[in-house]
Amino acid sequence: MRRAVLPAAALAGALALTGCGSGSGPDSGPGASKADLSVSSPYMPQPVSPDMAAGFLTITNQGGAKETLTSVSSDVAGRVTMHSTVGGAMREKTSFPIPAHGRLVFRSGGNHLMFEELKQAPKQGQHVTLKLTFAKSGPLTVEMPVRSATYNPSTGH
Ligand code: CU
Repeated sequence: MRRAVLPAAALAGALALTGCGSGSGPDSGPGASKADLSVSSPYMPQPVSPDMAAGFLTITNQGGAKETLTSVSSDVAGRVTMHSTVGGAMREKTSFPIPAHGRLVFRSGGNHLMFEELKQAPKQGQHVTLKLTFAKSGPLTVEMPVRSATYNPSTGH
């Protein structure tokens, strides 16, 4: 009987360890000190200007550690800058915090990305590839669809 109990206990221990290591455990686990990032709802309104475009997306952090978005780049633009909007005025920022178990939202009228020095104007139906770089986590590549100039993500058109 004792022999049957031991492997079960060992298995339970191994499962608990795996849960922590994946970063999906509760805040107190050793694996909780890692960010777990994913990107959703990326889009670029088709730009009206031939050399500048805006981009929006949401970065979700399901991990127990905060992260920092430090830069964005894209092969369609000479540079991509990050802006916040405070009291109607936009301000360039060199980084954006992503809280543990939180989100960083870029949306029309708020935080946004600016694609500058465009090599060619993106057109509706195309995709733009961008790379997000973080302070600690590895970089993420995002396929950002180009929508109509007046696209509204809450209505989907
Ligand atoms: Cu701006």
